[in-house]
Amino acid sequence: MKNFIFQNPTKLVFGKGEIARLPELLPDNVNLMVTLGGGSVTRNGVYDQVKAALGGRRYIEFWGIEPNPRVETLRRAIQLGKENQINYLLAVGGGSVLDGTKLIAAGIAADEDAWDIVLKGVAGDQIPFASVMTVPATGSEMNGAAVITREETKEKYGFGGDYPRFSILDPQVTYSLSEHQIACGLADAYTHVLEQYMTTPGQSRIMDRWAEGVMLSITEIAPKIKDNPLDYDLMADYMLAATLALNDFIRMGITQDWTTHQIGHELTALHGTTHGHSLAIVMPGLLRVLKDQKKAKLLQYGERIFGITAGSDEERADKAIEMTESFYRSLGLTTRLSEEGIGEETIETIASRFNERGVAFGENHNVTGDVAREILESCLLSSGHI
Ligand code: NZQ
Ligand code: ZN
Repeated sequence: MKNFIFQNPTKLVFGKGEIARLPELLPDNVNLMVTLGGGSVTRNGVYDQVKAALGGRRYIEFWGIEPNPRVETLRRAIQLGKENQINYLLAVGGGSVLDGTKLIAAGIAADEDAWDIVLKGVAGDQIPFASVMTVPATGSEMNGAAVITREETKEKYGFGGDYPRFSILDPQVTYSLSEHQIACGLADAYTHVLEQYMTTPGQSRIMDRWAEGVMLSITEIAPKIKDNPLDYDLMADYMLAATLALNDFIRMGITQDWTTHQIGHELTALHGTTHGHSLAIVMPGLLRVLKDQKKAKLLQYGERIFGITAGSDEERADKAIEMTESFYRSLGLTTRLSEEGIGEETIETIASRFNERGVAFGENHNVTGDVAREILESCLLSSGHI
């Protein structure tokens, strides 16, 4: 196990009706701005709950943070925040609203342009922020990451910084999500675990078992949620699984491989593919191309998650990859680029973007633009797959 420092300062407030706790969680005497998306929270009653909880408090609102939040929109929020001496933010929405809010928090505290903050990869000072999270998927409610899009150039990058002071998770907010949103959320959470797990075995039993526990929970609840999307306990497990999948708990002292996310962000930036869906397409291809490098872990994964024990190492590794793709498809997601009308041109664009940036992703720092091309080529065809 590698040396590590772990500190996750987010207070997680979880359960039915917990939005009502806002008054006791928010500090008094702050200049508050509430940040919101396109209106789902008015349709599902979350906004009314927040408004009721904020009672007589003075605050301003910023609406319109879109899915895959755009720096062009967030600059306006930063401007509004500065004009009103805002010193505390409350994000009410999904990962996009919260990620956007993380950049607003940095932009208000800084003099530089918001996109420069994103490009640096790390925020400097940020004003405090918190969330009422309405989509289980990203883990943004309990981590320091944010992913921002620049529409003008169709670029999408992440940066790191502060964690939310608190996040309120009421599983009932998920009742208004569509089947596709749930599928993408489950795919996102599952892939987060895989990207922290699918490197080499023998680094930490605790991290392996913890990650496997989250993956087993997700594969167990996914089909049940399809039949019972209004079952509180199922949705509570889904929501908590998504948080635990990306709140630093399963990556202490181990190597990671975030290649799938990096390629997925390009697909979203270029084609608008929903985040979780982009991962369902890329991950099986990545496993096919890096099978030899990841074989030992693939065998452990295949046995512990899918019960694969028969056959040669090669056959078992292949089966584990097949079962992974089947899992994504069982959620109702396509897993091949051709099924989404994405072809060679996009593959070339992504490969050259990576080569130009000189990146080398993965636990062995060997996924260059050329390897990304191979991965995407292997995600292309729909013939012969499940
Ligand atoms: O904008 P509104 O009207 O609120 O509608 C949203 C949006 O259209 C809607 N929605 C939100 N809560 C809902 C709801 N609809 C019905 N019922 C509810 N309870 O859902 C749509 C999608 O919302 P969005 O916030 O975009 O989804 P998600 O939470 O999946 O966030 C995706 C973004 O997070 C980034 C992704 O790249 C993407 O930009 N990620 C952030 C990470 C992080 N901070 O650590 C890690 C992830 O890997 C991911 O990259
Ligand atoms: Zn993700």
